[in-house]
Amino acid sequence: QPPYTGKICCIGAGYVGGPTMAMVALKTGLTVTVVDLNKQRIDAWNSDRLPIYEPGLEEVVKQTRGKNLFFSTDVEAAVRDAAIIFVSVNTPTKEYGFGKGRAADLTYWEGAARSISKATVPGSALFQGFKIVVEKSTVPVSTADAMTCVLQENCPAGVHFQVLSNPEFLAEGTAIADLTQPDRVLIGGSMSKEGIMAIEALASVYAHWVPRERIVKSNVWSAELSKLVANAFLAQRISSVNALSELCEATGADIDHVASAIGSDPGIGPKFLKCGPGFGGSCFQKDILNLVYLCQSAGLTDVAEYWLQVIRMNDHQKRRFGKLIVDTMFNTINDKKIAVLGFAFKADTGDTRESPAIDICGTMLNENAKVTVFDPEVTEDQVLQFRDLDYRRIFDTMCKPAFIFDGRNILDHDQLQSIGFRIQGLGKPKTLEIVSGS
Ligand code: UDX
Ligand code: ADP
Repeated sequence: QPPYTGKICCIGAGYVGGPTMAMVALKTGLTVTVVDLNKQRIDAWNSDRLPIYEPGLEEVVKQTRGKNLFFSTDVEAAVRDAAIIFVSVNTPTKEYGFGKGRAADLTYWEGAARSISKATVPGSALFQGFKIVVEKSTVPVSTADAMTCVLQENCPAGVHFQVLSNPEFLAEGTAIADLTQPDRVLIGGSMSKEGIMAIEALASVYAHWVPRERIVKSNVWSAELSKLVANAFLAQRISSVNALSELCEATGADIDHVASAIGSDPGIGPKFLKCGPGFGGSCFQKDILNLVYLCQSAGLTDVAEYWLQVIRMNDHQKRRFGKLIVDTMFNTINDKKIAVLGFAFKADTGDTRESPAIDICGTMLNENAKVTVFDPEVTEDQVLQFRDLDYRRIFDTMCKPAFIFDGRNILDHDQLQSIGFRIQGLGKPKTLEIVSGS
């Protein structure tokens, strides 16, 4: 089968669609058009100030935009001209009706499916007689089947669709590095002759820069489930280490020592063992809730409970950090001035979706503190910035005792203590006199 040489379209110009398609354009030379209903977002992609910040993204966009990478609001034209269409729309947690608070809201996803069938008019681009629709958004298992149904029943006679699941594993803040050298590219599709042809066509796109052995193929449900499970596992590790951070504080152990000791076991591995104020971001909580809903729908109550505990522990960690602050500052932060350094859900991103900082600031505001938030948002070394602040000068201007709560354990605690600060990290032996609150 010849490699795919036609045009590519992506519906959804967000955190996933934008960077992924910029990389596809750069590495393949194929013509890629990213479309979105949100005109402001498209205008931003076409401007000097991109709508999202990712280290290295601007360079990739500059090299390709206007040459073989285009951003447009004309969904129909782009869908018509491309035989491979990625769907990268938002699939937030449902806020109403059945599965409220757990299931994925597929409104945008179905909207995208309907625009694809509408734009698939006679004469529109096909590959080997069919259009290939690629699920990039994280969706519940079996969504590809539903998508095939919507597409197939609304398109002109004779047109066929192959729906593939090709979940994106990039992390925000390292999107460009992750896309340049992915650990794996997972492509799930139907095991029919046409399905395998579609999988091969998509694989030929990635093969421009991803070694063949890293392009993993499976059936469509395995691919859909793998994405949910990968995120659930990563989040579970963080909840595990966060749970142990509380035990460390209670026993005088140091969570960083424990994490490094267990992380050198190859069966455990060193990554995702950093304790913090709770995980945030648009994926972990949403995907676990989705997994929980899936288990509940299948009647697997114990399995659902098991995964739900990962979120409960995360909520506990966010609450606990807020309470630690109040308790430590003599049970009242009423009218106290508190500076919050960093508001995004992690370093190197301006994204604040589900950021633990939201909950922690909420706790402090409820306690009537005067909260000032600073986030450099888009500079590359924002965490280092925090490390290099002139803490001696800051100490001199602060009301005493001067407290620092280091939720990410990134500061030099010994040095700050020698300046005179009272500093408390998470999962560190308690160095402060804690007055227990209610
Ligand atoms: C995640 C997955 O890593 C990625 O594979 C998937 O495609 C999307 O979801 P992302 O949400 O961008 O990516 O960020 P990630 O780096 O995984 O961090 C998520 C949250 O966990 C952040 O709030 C981060 O601070 C926290 N975290 C991460 C920890 O608290 N400790 C760790 O050791 C790692
Ligand atoms: P993600 O983090 O998964 O990339 P985002 O919310 O950043 O999600 O981006 C999803 C994008 O998809 C949004 O910009 C939204 O406007 C766009 N979108 C949603 N539904 C449609 C649709 N039917 N057609 C085109 N774009 C859509």
